[in-house]
Amino acid sequence: MKVISLCDGLCKLIVIAWLLVLVDCQLPIPIQLTTVKDFVLFGKDDDDNFFLKILKNGVSKKNYKFLEDDDAFEEWIEKEKNYCFQGILNNIGGMGKFNASNGVLEGVVIASPSRSDPDYFYQWVRDAALAVNSLVEYLDDNGIDNDDYKLSSIIESYVENSYNLQRITNPSGGFEDLSGLGEPKFLTNNTPFSENWGRPQNDGPALRILTISNFLKILNKYNSKLTRFPNEKYIYENILKNDLKFILLNWNEDSFDLWEEIYSKHLFTSLTQLKALQIGLKLANFFNDQDFYNELSIGFTQLKAFLQAGGFESSAAPYLIETPSLFFKNARKGLDIATILASLRSHDITSIEDVSDIPYDISDPYLLNTFTALVNDMKYRYPINHQRIKFGTIGFGLGRYPEDVYNGVGYDFSSSVVKYADSFLDVVREHVDGQGSMSEQFNKYTGYMEGADDLTWSYGATWGSIRWRNKVLDIMNTTGAMAT
Ligand code: NOJ
Repeated sequence: MKVISLCDGLCKLIVIAWLLVLVDCQLPIPIQLTTVKDFVLFGKDDDDNFFLKILKNGVSKKNYKFLEDDDAFEEWIEKEKNYCFQGILNNIGGMGKFNASNGVLEGVVIASPSRSDPDYFYQWVRDAALAVNSLVEYLDDNGIDNDDYKLSSIIESYVENSYNLQRITNPSGGFEDLSGLGEPKFLTNNTPFSENWGRPQNDGPALRILTISNFLKILNKYNSKLTRFPNEKYIYENILKNDLKFILLNWNEDSFDLWEEIYSKHLFTSLTQLKALQIGLKLANFFNDQDFYNELSIGFTQLKAFLQAGGFESSAAPYLIETPSLFFKNARKGLDIATILASLRSHDITSIEDVSDIPYDISDPYLLNTFTALVNDMKYRYPINHQRIKFGTIGFGLGRYPEDVYNGVGYDFSSSVVKYADSFLDVVREHVDGQGSMSEQFNKYTGYMEGADDLTWSYGATWGSIRWRNKVLDIMNTTGAMAT
């Protein structure tokens, strides 16, 4: 039974651990530790409250073991960052191995080269948006002019491909009424995937808006021009606006969750949609699209109210509930790593405004509770973590949700949190192969990699996590926050 999934859980959770370190050293967002009314202490032993303990007290009395081997870890981080980046590029049509000659069109992002057990040789709208966003972040950090990879052109090919995908009639529907935009996956030659599937999945258009609008922001930042499109307004009018309209039409409709299993309302879908509408408001304002701005504004207010009253918070649970319909039927506890991923995707860590506009940022007590509850559940649930408990290591491998059966000291405050975040990345280090290649999951009993190999999303998630780590360490070094 495969439960621990690299792409679906662990890597992103590391990101939240790392973002919390960032919050600690930059303090752009107030951590509400004085009002942690709901940041409950739950767990089987004292160390189950570890996260709260280090956030509140900084110094832990006990000697905790954060990493198996500090030097090996640092060496691995360096190597893995490059490996992951290359892993993303390798899976984009026109970049190397995959191109029109083997049926992968330019700008198409395959989920994985695996063609059987499982067959992931498709393009998923969600995976592609998440992976390409990592390329956008690379450009943000490194600039466009000195970019040897010609990322700007690769990203534009993804944007162009998105234009084409929107217009393909598929089993979810067509372009006329925009219903086809909910289709989760396509063949790599841009023909529809016609087999049975969990469709529609309404997070796809939202994630695509996030990635493409981030790209437009970076072009603007570096004063760079588009080469495949006449101008930014064209992309707004002909791609982004379709996705925004899709959200306005469908935010109140049920759809399949990002794990492609449950047809209902989901926090991940709703929260990423809200973030997309917030971006839409800025774009509509920028392009003087007043009538559409007004429509977006109504949608944003309604969706935000739904997020706050739609059952994602309940007095029956101290954490956020990913899929309320299952929780209220007693079919699931509600805990799901998707909640954490949703928070990360929907908040730009550098924007104070996001904290007030969009619920459940990383300092939100409910969100912190969700993180704590996931760790405390899964450290016992997954056999591969038992060794870690035994040897006193405090970072753990985490899966998607508790019910999942899919195969598939003497430190100061800052350095304690740093080590804590690293200890989650260290779990990844333990399970990837010698070269650094990553598949979709690792087995909860044996710890061996399994599922689709070279999963683009795993590379994107790990690369993103290491990127945050490096940013945080830089800030800490320059502010002296690292000194013990
Ligand atoms: C299964 C995951 O649950 C889903 O989120 C993902 O889009 C596909 N695999 C492809 O990676």
